[in-house]
Amino acid sequence: MFKKDFVWGVATAAYQIEGGAFEDGRGLSVWDTFCMEPGNVKFGHTGNFACDHYHRYKEDVALMKELGVKNYRFSVSWSRIIPDGVGEVNPKGIEFYNNLIDELLANGITPYMTLFHWDTPQALEDRGGWKNPDMSDWFAQYARVIGENFGDRVKNFMTINEPQSYLGGYNNRGGMPPKAGYEKRFMIPIIHNTLLAHGKAVIALRETVKDCKISYAPCGDYFYPLDENNSADIEAARKLTFRANDNFDGPHWNVAWYADPIFLGKYPEEHLAGYEQYLPKGWQDDLKIINQPLDFCAQNIYGGRPATTDKDGNPVIVPLKVGFSRMANGWGVVTPKAIKWAAIFLYERYKKPIFITENGMANNDTVTLDGKVHDPQRIDYLHRYIKALSQAADMGVDVGGYFQWSFMDNFEWAQGYNERFGMIWVDYETFERIPKDSAYWYKTVMETNGENL
Ligand code: BGC
Repeated sequence: MFKKDFVWGVATAAYQIEGGAFEDGRGLSVWDTFCMEPGNVKFGHTGNFACDHYHRYKEDVALMKELGVKNYRFSVSWSRIIPDGVGEVNPKGIEFYNNLIDELLANGITPYMTLFHWDTPQALEDRGGWKNPDMSDWFAQYARVIGENFGDRVKNFMTINEPQSYLGGYNNRGGMPPKAGYEKRFMIPIIHNTLLAHGKAVIALRETVKDCKISYAPCGDYFYPLDENNSADIEAARKLTFRANDNFDGPHWNVAWYADPIFLGKYPEEHLAGYEQYLPKGWQDDLKIINQPLDFCAQNIYGGRPATTDKDGNPVIVPLKVGFSRMANGWGVVTPKAIKWAAIFLYERYKKPIFITENGMANNDTVTLDGKVHDPQRIDYLHRYIKALSQAADMGVDVGGYFQWSFMDNFEWAQGYNERFGMIWVDYETFERIPKDSAYWYKTVMETNGENL
């Protein structure tokens, strides 16, 4: 069972839905320039117009209200607010988010604001972006502008979304800007800068916003016990969830390197042995800034893998069975136990209320002859995951909230518009919106606080 004040919501991100990319003084972000270069995004799609939310935000908020949404997680485009990343503030950018916030509040919807969801201002990328040691100060200045302008009405913040994902663009992951290809020795300070930027932004927000709640929304590599009643499997899953994972030529895509410094004020010992040599001078002092008290532990979770032990008792990853259920985009496996055990392990380790800030399913949705969009697979996926999350709550985990990804179909980064994650179907030529069956289903889940599952 979910607690009475459980936070039900939906999530989006600025570059994925806003459009209006070159309007009203917005500066370029790395995603604008990435999209301009042929070959980077499937079919040459861009976020230039996206869902045209920049012009249709009122319609979108009205849809939220109609569908019973009470909490909305969205991100702010840094270069819409400060076109060069630092310095002059763009009044038109402030105006857009003011209007959106006011519209949300007028419709009884609480804003959950993410400061950064991957769209680094190009002007800062030109100066090295997250590799530049000044980045943390630039981010803090931006956070201050956010706090000063919106903090009278916005009280819930997440600093950075999934650093593991966008920082991949700095080493070997082609699907993200800036495609820099740096080696491990450069990745460690880049990640450190990101964590420091988070810490400084929290300080700036606390100084400018009264009574706010702050977290940060990383992702990770999650494991669940193959046999949920076997304590060795549980321990194996726990160990793997917090292990050092070196697959990405850097401590990439793991939970602990990105969350321990923030919640515990230290880098995990096991990882430090290999990476300390690459950390920038003074990193121990930085940890004090990085380790700001946070109000909840946010995490984006789509799936995970089963774990067990080998004959010597060492944790091993169990291959998924042939023909396992999967999402339409191929990368997501349908593994609801992942959300339950991630919540359990994260709560044990960080002792903060757990908020799932993204969870959802890519599906091959179409408008059928009856003019509707039937998405039973998504309903089934969400049903299983939300139910599994409620089991974690039953086991004593303080589960505080759940945000479905995504409110509407949108620009899926390097996959362009080919993947549909939304509860609202979007026609990218006419910008017509059609709520899918899952949107009406989720309404009933929110209304009953998940008790109808
Ligand atoms: C990201 C979203 C993205 C979703 C589905 C998450 O990792 O935060 O921006 O749309 O995955 O790919």
